[in-house]
Amino acid sequence: MTVQIDHALEEIRRFRPSPEFAANAVADTSLAEAAEADRLGFWADQSRELLTWSKPFTKTLDWSNPPFAKWFEDGELNVAVNCLDRHVEAGNGDRVALHWVGEPGDTRDITYAELTDEVKRAANVLTELGVGSGDRVAIYLPMIPEAVVSMLAVARIGAIHSVVFGGFSADSLASRIDDAEASLVITADGGYRKGKVFPLKPVVDEAITKSVAGSVRNVLVVRRGENEVAWNDHDLWWHDTVGTASNEHEAAGFEAEHPLFILYTSGTTGKPKGILHTSGGYLTQAAFTHRNVFDLHPETDVYWCTADVGWITGHSYVVYGPLANGATQVLYEGTPDTPHPGRWWEIIEQYKVSILYTAPTAIRSFMKLGRQIPHEFNLRSLRLLGSVGEPINPEAWIWYRHVIGGGSIPVVDTWWQTETGAIMISALPGITDLKPGSAQVAIPGISIDILSDDGTSVEGEGGGLLVVTEPWPSMLRGIWGDPERFKETYWEKFGDKYFAGDGARRDADGDIWLLGRVDDVMNVSGHRLSTAEIESSLVAHPWTAEAAVVGAADETTGQAVVAFVILKASQAERVTDVQAASDELRKHVATQIGAIARPRQVFIVNELPKTRSGKIMRRLLRDLAEGRDIGDTTTLADTSIMQTISDQVK
Ligand code: WTA
Repeated sequence: MTVQIDHALEEIRRFRPSPEFAANAVADTSLAEAAEADRLGFWADQSRELLTWSKPFTKTLDWSNPPFAKWFEDGELNVAVNCLDRHVEAGNGDRVALHWVGEPGDTRDITYAELTDEVKRAANVLTELGVGSGDRVAIYLPMIPEAVVSMLAVARIGAIHSVVFGGFSADSLASRIDDAEASLVITADGGYRKGKVFPLKPVVDEAITKSVAGSVRNVLVVRRGENEVAWNDHDLWWHDTVGTASNEHEAAGFEAEHPLFILYTSGTTGKPKGILHTSGGYLTQAAFTHRNVFDLHPETDVYWCTADVGWITGHSYVVYGPLANGATQVLYEGTPDTPHPGRWWEIIEQYKVSILYTAPTAIRSFMKLGRQIPHEFNLRSLRLLGSVGEPINPEAWIWYRHVIGGGSIPVVDTWWQTETGAIMISALPGITDLKPGSAQVAIPGISIDILSDDGTSVEGEGGGLLVVTEPWPSMLRGIWGDPERFKETYWEKFGDKYFAGDGARRDADGDIWLLGRVDDVMNVSGHRLSTAEIESSLVAHPWTAEAAVVGAADETTGQAVVAFVILKASQAERVTDVQAASDELRKHVATQIGAIARPRQVFIVNELPKTRSGKIMRRLLRDLAEGRDIGDTTTLADTSIMQTISDQVK
C-alpha cells in the first residue's frame, strides 16, 4: 500500500463567509466548543434535540466490545415517524416534502401529510405481504416518489431495506438479493432516462431466475414507464395494493440499534460488501449534518441533492437527513442533459432551489459545456452549494461558486463514505473560511487523524492515511453476514481506529486535503468500483485468460476504468479485429455489473507486468493508461514487458 502524496499546486485562496450569511447561520462556534468539552454529551444533546424518541435513552455509547459500537442503546424510536408523522403533528403537514420532477416533464408536489399517508398505506401492504421486523426488502426503483415511500415504509415496520441502484445488472441485483435473502423486491415497470424508458421489471425477473437463495416471495411493481412487462404469480401492482390500502397505521418504536438498511458497496475484493446501518445513531448524525453543514432553514429553504437513492448520498441526504429535518426538497428522475443541457438550471429557477448538493464529476461536465448554459437561467435563489464523492479540484470549486453560485455564496466540500453513514469532514458555512479543494475540518463531535503506515500520527503538514479515532453515531455496524470481513477491512490495520482507505494530508492551517483511495477501489463519477470486481467479470468472459484493471485519471469522471486483457491462446488466433474484441469485452462488463462499470478502454495485450512473486503491478499500467513515462520497472520479473505492452497499446 503506497500513499500518494503528490497534490495539486498549493491553493492559497480563502473565502471568508459574508457577514450576512454568518449572522443567520444555523451553526455557530458553540457546537465545536460543546463537542470539545464533552463529546458524548454533545451527541446525546443533538440526538434529543433533533429526534423524537418514543422511549428516551439514558446511555450514549457502549464501546466495550470494539469495533461493535452501540449508540443510544436503551432508547426507542421509529425512524419513519421522525421523518414524517411528527412534522404533521407539529402543524407542518401542508409543507411540501417533495417537489418531484419526472424526466418527461410531469411533476408532483407531495406534502408531508400526503407522504405520511402514502407511507402508512405502503407499510400496511408490506405487513399484509408477511414482511416483518428484521426482514429484508430489496428496492430497485427509478428516482420517483415511490422510492422514498418504499424506504420509509420498510423502516416504519422495522424491516431492513437494501436499495439497489437502477443501473445495476440482473447479476448484480441477484447477488444482492441472495446475500441479504430478501423476501420482497419493490420495483417499477421502467423509468425515464435520456428521453427513453429503461425497463426495470424484466431485470428483476431475470435476477429472480438467477437467484440461488430463492428467498423472494413477492415483487411489488410501480407503474411508471408504461412499458410492457411479463407477469408472474408473485407480482403485484403498487396501485392495486398500496393505492387501495388503509392509511391508518400505528407505528411501533424500535431499539436504537435496530437495523435500518444494508447498502452494498465495492471493496478491495470481488464481492460487494453489505454495509449495515442502524437507526438512532444514523438518524442523529444524518439530521445533524444535514442541518448544520447545509445551513438548513426548513421553513424557507428549497433543498436539492442530485444523488440517486441507490447510493449512500441518496439515503442520508435525500431521504433520512432532509426528511428528519422537515425540509422541502426537489427530487428529479432523469439525467442533467435531457431534454436540454440546461435542465438542472431550469429546475433550480422553477423551484427557487436555495441549497444544491452534487458531485464534482457533474460540475466538471457542466464546465465543459460552458457558462452560457447556466447563465440562461435565474439561479439567484441559490445560497449554498455542496460537493461530495471525490476531491473537487480548485478550478471546479471556483467555477461552481462563480458561475452557479454568483460568486459570493459558500461551497462546502463534504468528505464521507457509505461506511461513515453521514458527513465527517466539511467546512461549516458561516464559520469556516473556505479553501477551494480542501474538505477542511472534522465536523463537531468527530475525531479524525492522519497516520503513517506504522500507526503514528503524522505531525504537521504531511501525507498519510485517514482514520477516525473515536466511534461516531452513524458509523457502520458491520458487514451483513460477515463480521470477520468487517474487522479485517477497517479495524485490523490500526486497532480500534477506523481505517477509511483514503490518503490525506493536513496543511499548515490544519485543513485536510483528500488524496484519493490507497486501495484497489476506483472512483468513477463519484461511484465506487472495485478493480477486483471488474477483473473477475472480464475473466468470466470465455475469451479472457487474464485481466488487470486500473483507474486512470479522467478529466470529467475523475477516474476511468482501463483494462488490460490477455486472450486465451485458442481465442487469440481467431480474433482478427482487436477493436471488436475490445468492444465486446466492454459490453460484457456493462451487462455483468452495470453500465457504470463499463471500461473506457480495454487493451488486448500479450503480457501483464508482474513481480517475481507474480503480483500484477497495476502502478505501471496506470502510468501507461495516463500517458506518463513508465516508472521504475526493476522489480518486474521481465523488465522488457512494459515496452512490449506499451507498443501494443499504441
Ligand atoms: C471518496 C460517498 C474526496 C473517498 C459519500 C471515499 C471523497 C469514497 C469525498 C466514498 C470528498 C467522498 N473528497 N474524496 N469530498 N467524498 N470521497 O462510499 O475516496 O460512495 O472513500 O460514499 O469517495 O465513496 P462512497
